[in-house]
Amino acid sequence: MYINFWYPLCTTEELQEEPLQLEIFSLKLVAFRDSTGAAHVLSDTCAHRGGSLSKGWVEGDCVVCPYHGWQYAGSGACNNIPSQVKGKPPGRAKVDSYPVDERYGIVFAFLGDLPANERQPIYDIPQADLEGWRASKPAVMDVNCYYERSVENGLDPYHNEFVHASQGLPIPNPATAVFEDIPWGTKFMVGYGELQEKPSDTEELRSNPDELRAGSWYYGPNTLITDIQFTTTNSFIQYAFEAPISETVTRIYLVNLRNVMLEPELDEKVMQINRKVALEDVAILENLWPLRTPDTNTKELLTEGDEMVLRYRKHLKEWDAKGWRIDIKAIKQSEGDIAWAIPCPARHEAGNWVLDSVPLLPQN
Ligand code: FES
Ligand SMILES: [Fe+2]
Repeated sequence: MYINFWYPLCTTEELQEEPLQLEIFSLKLVAFRDSTGAAHVLSDTCAHRGGSLSKGWVEGDCVVCPYHGWQYAGSGACNNIPSQVKGKPPGRAKVDSYPVDERYGIVFAFLGDLPANERQPIYDIPQADLEGWRASKPAVMDVNCYYERSVENGLDPYHNEFVHASQGLPIPNPATAVFEDIPWGTKFMVGYGELQEKPSDTEELRSNPDELRAGSWYYGPNTLITDIQFTTTNSFIQYAFEAPISETVTRIYLVNLRNVMLEPELDEKVMQINRKVALEDVAILENLWPLRTPDTNTKELLTEGDEMVLRYRKHLKEWDAKGWRIDIKAIKQSEGDIAWAIPCPARHEAGNWVLDSVPLLPQN
């Protein structure tokens, strides 16, 4: 996993009055809402003696540690130490606080220390405000796989004819594939030939072999978009925002949009169609080995059909080169001994932090 990207952490609905413990790559965070309802995401480990802030409560605009009642504002600064009679809390009484944005019914945090003008924006969903499109509420799915494996699966059209019986096992035609560089990613579209099995019994989703086109693109390491054009007028588009909860679990927040079947009462039916497709992928993803993508491409045999996977991995290497990849092996070695924090933007302006910044693989 990388620092310096936006990660989906929970749904807007999940974050109510109580502080919520979140996990990302086995690191603990706390989310809470202040008195105005604004969401904040902080490192969960109290700077005092390691209390878990998410087990505390919210008072006014602060989250309160349940151990000795230190109060932390949304900025991460501790405003009050009840047992300290004289003076203000010391400068080191602070925890990392991350930029937060709520979009599409999802609470996102920017987990990293880049200044605002250098951050990759959250993916802007053009259809979100467009007439003629209907968006589902975000669906959340846990998959027992590493998130890069999940993204790569979404970038690969050549499993459809073997894995997606619910879509009629469509056969892509590689001669029609078109690739396009986009900011922070690569996009491709491909045409399909005949379906091998009975097509969908839902009229609007019945594809015409001459018109069926589909493709996908990644945007940063953990955003994946899938566009399915059943006919020239009928489309599904799916935005997957992926969070590595750990090396073995990926939580995927799915926002599905469609320009057919617009009636709200069809949401559930559309959801079921999408879920069926996703479960076909999950059955494969949960059995890939090794768990994490190998460190070098020579440990797998990538061929022509893996062009998108290659492009994605090349991009990951660019983020490796910036020194943004978390060193999971170092974290594992220190398990139980060190509480790490993903560095927040305030670490640029001030030093003197109690928690160590999470170990990163060296820049190259
Ligand atoms: S550990 Fe949090 S207040 Fe003491
Ligand atoms: Fe798939």
